[in-house]
Amino acid sequence: MTVEHTASTSYYQEKYRPQFHFTPEKNWMNDPNGMVYYNGEYHLFYQYHPNSNVWGPMHWGHAVSKDLVHWEHLPIALKPDENGMIFSGSAVVDWHDTTGFFGGESGLVAIFTHADEYPGTDKPRQRQSLAYSKDNGRTWTPYDGNPVLAEPRIIDFRDPKVFWHEDTGRWVMVIASGQTVSMYTSLNLIDWEFVSEFGDGEGSHQGVWECPDLFQLPVDHSTDKKKWVLLVSLGDEPDVEEGSKTQYFVGEFDGKTFVNDHDSAKVLWVDRGWDNYAGVTWSDLPMASGRRVFMGWMSNWRYAIDTPTSTWRSAMTLPRELSLKTTREGFRLIQTPVPDIESIRNEGQTFEDMELKSGGNLFKGLKGNALDLELDLDVTYTGSVRLGLLQSEKEETVIEYDVSSSTLSFDRRRSGDASFHQSFAMTQSITLNVPDGRLKLRVFVDWSSVEVFGGDGEVVLTNLVFPGEESLGLELSTDGTAYVHKARVSPLKSVWKQVSE
Ligand code: FRU
Repeated sequence: MTVEHTASTSYYQEKYRPQFHFTPEKNWMNDPNGMVYYNGEYHLFYQYHPNSNVWGPMHWGHAVSKDLVHWEHLPIALKPDENGMIFSGSAVVDWHDTTGFFGGESGLVAIFTHADEYPGTDKPRQRQSLAYSKDNGRTWTPYDGNPVLAEPRIIDFRDPKVFWHEDTGRWVMVIASGQTVSMYTSLNLIDWEFVSEFGDGEGSHQGVWECPDLFQLPVDHSTDKKKWVLLVSLGDEPDVEEGSKTQYFVGEFDGKTFVNDHDSAKVLWVDRGWDNYAGVTWSDLPMASGRRVFMGWMSNWRYAIDTPTSTWRSAMTLPRELSLKTTREGFRLIQTPVPDIESIRNEGQTFEDMELKSGGNLFKGLKGNALDLELDLDVTYTGSVRLGLLQSEKEETVIEYDVSSSTLSFDRRRSGDASFHQSFAMTQSITLNVPDGRLKLRVFVDWSSVEVFGGDGEVVLTNLVFPGEESLGLELSTDGTAYVHKARVSPLKSVWKQVSE
């Protein structure tokens, strides 16, 4: 069983190229934008610089998918105009033509930040604008009254995320405003009224606040108990070791004001890895599906422009379904990869109901760098479990669970090329409690990334790695006796069609 990439110039086969994560064909990408579901398609727009693989004048790149796994690239949707560059934002379906753009029909409206400078100065100016599409997102018309919302007192005023609030019959916009989130409401997406501000003294302020999102999630899979979740990304600051990252708050929202349920000093992180930033969720998923699907930019502003890939730069995380779980400490976000990903599994190897003793490697002889791994182990009679990934003589990425301290660690110090930035080679440890001694891990490896979902998905680590193409070895070992309820290694197929096909 082997899935190997070979470095070549054929389509999506370059060194480090992800096989089942979204990447642009070429050039620079950052935040996911305008994620919306409409007429059977999941739209993904993204911050894109079409002329270079470093950040520059921002456009919205565009792709669509029918299953969140296979993507079709479409032409650039929005490009810089007289109001400036196209920064991050969202898109909604205007079902009842509240804008009047669609002659009584429904259509797509993008709400985004236009970024330029105050005339005659180099002082940044960030204003909110609209564009609309009458043809399923294939072509876009900027609204001729742009911009629709300006706030000259705030320099960092960007990344509007808009949704329809059923109970009050209004559109709600959450937007980053310095180190808070401001909330506005509207009846037509054009005229906006300020209603509240959240964030002063709440959570982490280790960086400028960016890319908020606000949505309701079911608690403990209940159909009637729901809570509101506010996502807020925090920009890179030199004195913060792990660079840019995303926090979340859980609370109540009445259409105007968000109230945090937790102590205001409590900081909750979406992902404990270093490479999941600016993530937001899809708008307008069919209500009946009850799904809330999240996707982040799988990089970190600390070293994003230095990662050793060409001719594209950056990937998105896997799409993940979100829910909430009640714990003794309060509500916690649960993330699980979308089930559709299982459609690209090749036949793998499953180990069941057996003991793994010290000195052995359950995965001996298995190889691959596009993998879905599932582990369900009883760790009561062992001290630690070691999962080695992308191994060769010189390289490996190590995930280890230490039973006595209940810590899950991720070590990428020997994972491959780490020379491009001094912050990149790192090891990290986080708490993962294993009730009844049962350690559950789901791990996705896609040559230059590793995503670890611990427990039920309450602990997630997303990290980039840049191993050589010969680093394909796998290891599952322990220093005592672990009982393997199940360990499955499934190679995953590429979701990118070969051009010759
Ligand atoms: C977050 C961000 C946004 C901004 C965009 C610009 O990564 O800084 O706040 O809109 O990137 O590309």
